[in-house]
Amino acid sequence: MTLADLDALFARRYSCRGFRPDPVPREIIEAIVNAARKMPSWCNAQPWQLTITSGAETDALREALWDQAMAGGHDPDLPFPSGYSGVYQQRRRTCGWQLYEAVGVEKGDRAGSAKQMMENFRLFGAPHCAILSSPAELGPYGAMDSGGFVAAFALAAQAAGVASIPQAAVAAHGAFLHDYFDIPEDRLILCAISFGYADPDHPANGFRTERAGVDDIVDWRG
Ligand SMILES: Cc1cc2nc3c(=O)[nH]c(=O)nc-3n(C[C@H](O)[C@H](O)[C@H](O)COP(=O)(O)O)c2cc1C
Repeated sequence: MTLADLDALFARRYSCRGFRPDPVPREIIEAIVNAARKMPSWCNAQPWQLTITSGAETDALREALWDQAMAGGHDPDLPFPSGYSGVYQQRRRTCGWQLYEAVGVEKGDRAGSAKQMMENFRLFGAPHCAILSSPAELGPYGAMDSGGFVAAFALAAQAAGVASIPQAAVAAHGAFLHDYFDIPEDRLILCAISFGYADPDHPANGFRTERAGVDDIVDWRG
């Protein structure tokens, strides 16, 4: 495996927003988690824990989440960003517009964009959903370590031909998820990762996001 091979894998991964219903075999899910667990974490605490649904359990979650989202409310364990300004606001808008353009929602069509946003709570049709949590006492560093785990999961999944999408939108319903999955209060629910096989013809999968260049990221010294 060369860096070029790894870079090609990174380039193939994208956030999938339209899945086929067929399940991922348990041994493949296990192999993905087995790969992702090799990520580093501070003090090797390995704070990540997953609750993974399959089959009827995913469908039941989809229904319950939908009802929860329709009822409104917003109580994530991890505070959502307080704002996006400057270049971050620009990037956020650009990827939003890319998605809406792909699914045929015109600028200013609030009902259309809200409908697409609600697809989060249908888990974009994915056959599996992983709920990721970290011990509250590890605070932001537990979340930071777990972010690495999310990336590793998505890349390992991609290597196995499995598409995925991390979803903060699901974690917005913190109390509901704690209750639904019996996840103790001393753990922070960080995000969901919906995954399965991509529907390549789904319009929401018809765009790819951009990235800032290396020189935009690095302040070279010496
Ligand atoms: C922690 C995290 C949370 C995310 N939450 C959502 C979400 O709730 N809904 C969604 O559609 N995409 C979500 N995404 C996907 C991002 O929008 C996506 O990663 C970004 O636009 C870059 O595109 P790419 O993943 O296709 O390369 C999330 C990504 C991350 C890493």
